[in-house]
Amino acid sequence: MSEVIDGKLVAQHIRQKLKNDVEKLRENGIVPKLAVIMVGDNESSKIYVRNKSIACKEIGVEYKEYLLPEKTNMKELLELIDELNNDKSVNGVLLQSPIPKDLDINEAFKAIAPEKDVDGFNPCSVGKLCLGQDTFISCTPYGIIKLLEEYGIDIEGKDAVVVGRSNIVGKPMMQCLLNKNATVTICHSKTVKLERLTKKADILVVAIGKPKFITKEMVKENAIVIDVGINRDENGKICGDVDFDEVSKVASYITPVPGGVGPMTVAMLMNNIVKATKLQNKM
Ligand code: GUN
Repeated sequence: MSEVIDGKLVAQHIRQKLKNDVEKLRENGIVPKLAVIMVGDNESSKIYVRNKSIACKEIGVEYKEYLLPEKTNMKELLELIDELNNDKSVNGVLLQSPIPKDLDINEAFKAIAPEKDVDGFNPCSVGKLCLGQDTFISCTPYGIIKLLEEYGIDIEGKDAVVVGRSNIVGKPMMQCLLNKNATVTICHSKTVKLERLTKKADILVVAIGKPKFITKEMVKENAIVIDVGINRDENGKICGDVDFDEVSKVASYITPVPGGVGPMTVAMLMNNIVKATKLQNKM
């Protein structure tokens, strides 16, 4: 049987520490502020953004939301980003993805000032991560590394397999694991015989958005299994990309859904907004 990794608890400890940091900043007259942009109407995004706003409130970070209509054009979006980049009271700028298809998300991420890029999606932040330099690391992969560290799981020398190659999770996850000296394989929808690779993983990270896709047969005995998926099963119940009940019989550690990776993503965003505020104030 696996040990279940309690992301909710670890995230709570991180938020408590950050709350103390924010209190000290406020004593010095500095109030961290996060600006969140959402374009159009996306139900999942509304839930993610709501969780981010609750976390901000809890730790004392000021939060402002900009809801742009579906028909917003690129010029209008870039103008808003520019305005927030130039607003000295704003320390972090986050553009919630997805955005409507006719808008270029990469162009928008590129426009966010690197010093306010708390999501770590600006090419400058991505490049620094690749070079192993200090930067804002995208929150989900960063949260996963923190979870592994918190549970005393050594990454160095491990065979790590990442399933999913998104810019938001898969690719930065691969880079974070590599930076910690794992040997990393990244798999995706065109990978042939996926199980031959997943079965070799000491650390298996899955971020594909397919309910219960990873079965017991695809996992090595005593592997560490990290589930990034948030899906609904056939009964409408929230589940991950991993068949938790079955895989937990073979894994040594496993993250649950909900209560695993999700809370860590939000905690690391809070970490990044506090870090951005300190850097901008030369602290
Ligand atoms: N969409 C899904 N996850 C994320 C995230 O972590 N950040 C942003 N900006 N958009 C997302």
